[in-house]
Amino acid sequence: MVSLQSPLFSRGSLAVDTPLPVRAQPPPPTPELSIGPALPHSLRRALPLLTGHLVVALVALVVIGGTTRVMEAGLACPDWPLCYGALLPGHQMNLQVFLEWFHRLDAFLVGLALLTLSGLSVAYRARLPRWLPWFAAGALALVAAQGLLGALTVLQLLQASTVTAHLITALVLVLLVSALHQRLLVALAEPLPGSRAQGLPAPVTPLWWRVLLPVPVVLVLGQCVLGGAMASQWSAQLCFAAGEACSWLLAHRLGAYPAAVSVLLLGLGSLALPKPVAIWRGLALTGSGLVLLQVVLGVTTLRLELAVPAITVTHQFVAALLVAVLGALLGRTWPGLTRSVQPNLEVDHG
Ligand code: HEM
Repeated sequence: MVSLQSPLFSRGSLAVDTPLPVRAQPPPPTPELSIGPALPHSLRRALPLLTGHLVVALVALVVIGGTTRVMEAGLACPDWPLCYGALLPGHQMNLQVFLEWFHRLDAFLVGLALLTLSGLSVAYRARLPRWLPWFAAGALALVAAQGLLGALTVLQLLQASTVTAHLITALVLVLLVSALHQRLLVALAEPLPGSRAQGLPAPVTPLWWRVLLPVPVVLVLGQCVLGGAMASQWSAQLCFAAGEACSWLLAHRLGAYPAAVSVLLLGLGSLALPKPVAIWRGLALTGSGLVLLQVVLGVTTLRLELAVPAITVTHQFVAALLVAVLGALLGRTWPGLTRSVQPNLEVDHG
């Protein structure tokens, strides 16, 4: 018997307690249960498109931010929120001004997209997973904080702690929105309450996987804090030039070991996952590949004494991709998505 106890769609005790009979006609839809299928088809397509684009825009934002720092363009627009008092600073435009201006434009578009997502998830809350408005509101609050940190970055003339906080908030946003996107994909692929159930029930997450997954998430984010703190103080450059501030570089190099090992172990552990969750394995192995690439990039950028900006920026890009992959895994695996039913039990579709 397949129970429709999906926490994603349950609406109070009625949805939770109403099982779909096996080899029998489903009961006539109650008003609450019939809410699910009423989600407009256009919205079923548009929402994952919106969240998928948001993940791409956020990763791009991190990369543009990194390029802006490496090109020393952080103060290319000396005022905020406008740039040289204009929406489009035509006269002052050069590569540095463009980078800083484009970074702000992308951030503005991300803010608008998140506002749209929040609005839609509240307007259609009765027909969408219960967690969606909360996730969307959390992301919106983070983007507002990020705007404030962006302003402080300029007004405090690139103070290191603010620049680091700005990078970490961006990476937490990548993590959250990537998780949200994957959860939404799974939720929309699930059979809806009151509909004639289709497809396989979501697999049950093994306990060891739930315990293992947060470890690389925390260690990678911690490693990014060290990397961001080092980069915003130009510690590596100072260490090479004057032998100063080398402790940050040492801490980041040492931090790479546990972070990389935990991601590699996750990839290794994913080989033991059951077949129905092949996508988790794909994501975990992608994470393992990315972390190896990240270490190679880190070592290379050091060997070249940070003389090649493209490698330094790629190091930041891969960090953002790694965080997005870990967020995707969190979104797919986090408790609340899986249903407390046995896979492969049959439902009579009438
Ligand atoms: C799990 C592995 C790693 C992660 C997630 C990571 C992440 C990061 C991040 C987020 C930054 C800040 C980028 C910026 O603001 O421009 C950074 C900077 C840096 N990382 Fe890593 N990193 C890792 C491993 C390594 C390794 C193994 C090395 C070298 C042995 C390394 C060397 C550097 C250097 C030199 C910088 C400073 C770049 C600059 O000042 O512009 N990283 N890292």
